[in-house]
Amino acid sequence: MEPEMEATRRRLQLLYESDRLLGLRDWPVGSPGTSTARSTIQQAAGEDAPAMSKKVAKSSPGTPREHVSAPVKRNSADSGLDNRVKLLIEQFPPEIEPPGIDPQGRPDLLVSARYALKGSPVDVVKLKVEALARQFEQVKQCQRCGLYNQGCKQKVFGVGHPDTRIVFVGEAPGADEDRIGYPFMGRAGKLLTAMVEKGMKLRREHVYICNVVKCRPPENRTPTTDEITACQDHLWAQLTVIEPEIIVSLGSPATQTLLSTRDSIGRLRGQFFEIHLSGSDLTGGPVAKCLPTYHPAYLLRNPDDKKKVWEDLKKVIAEMGIPGSA
Ligand code: URA
Repeated sequence: MEPEMEATRRRLQLLYESDRLLGLRDWPVGSPGTSTARSTIQQAAGEDAPAMSKKVAKSSPGTPREHVSAPVKRNSADSGLDNRVKLLIEQFPPEIEPPGIDPQGRPDLLVSARYALKGSPVDVVKLKVEALARQFEQVKQCQRCGLYNQGCKQKVFGVGHPDTRIVFVGEAPGADEDRIGYPFMGRAGKLLTAMVEKGMKLRREHVYICNVVKCRPPENRTPTTDEITACQDHLWAQLTVIEPEIIVSLGSPATQTLLSTRDSIGRLRGQFFEIHLSGSDLTGGPVAKCLPTYHPAYLLRNPDDKKKVWEDLKKVIAEMGIPGSA
């Protein structure tokens, strides 16, 4: 099979896998392109979709690989994306400015797209958007732990580009996120935006940002192990669809969940770990490199550690091949 077709087939297979992870074997009828997408995916995934077996150990220190530039295809069919797709890709409704953005000083759109996005065919991006939208519907219904009725206003699913090379994973929504419906909208969000835009020279809307836990814990307390366990399938499903090359885990809960470890963030930060994206108790699937670093909210309390985070981000910048940022 030609490499491009093989890559597309693999992506479609991933979408199928993420549906299986959430128990969505059947796609909702009636959404645009669904029946074609469904049969294409099932055909593409075929009977040889990787069997999901019990996970053994999943994280091990990764070895940096040579950077392979992300192929960027500007597809003229972009204008054909339907409104739902556009909305999800553009992400921020006009009345909500992403926090911390200086419109004059924003990284260049095309340069950011060149390095942050994979440039998958539009149909694949569309399928990813649809898969994420279906997952969001599942999350809205979720009652797997008690947080859904402990005062949170809404589920905070995630925000950003579905075809990005890099995902940032935080802990749980706080008051601002709960009110607005997007992750990292408050003071910690402003700092995260600065890390992405000023530090990495990427646009915030070209990365993807989400949390381990989708409901705001009361009084912004740290989510319990049980709450994280109940919620983490949603995260794995998101990651399986997006299939990022790099995941930056922000703080202990995100890092410990993604690496299946109890080690402290202080010990783990600044190194790449290879993780399988199929989920916490599964093996197989594509591999991403996870780099733990301190959570922006921790940095607001401990600004001296910003230097360490910058050192960590420089490793990510180098790994992604972004020029002129370090
Ligand atoms: N802290 C997080 O971990 N996530 C948010 O969305 C906001 C603050």
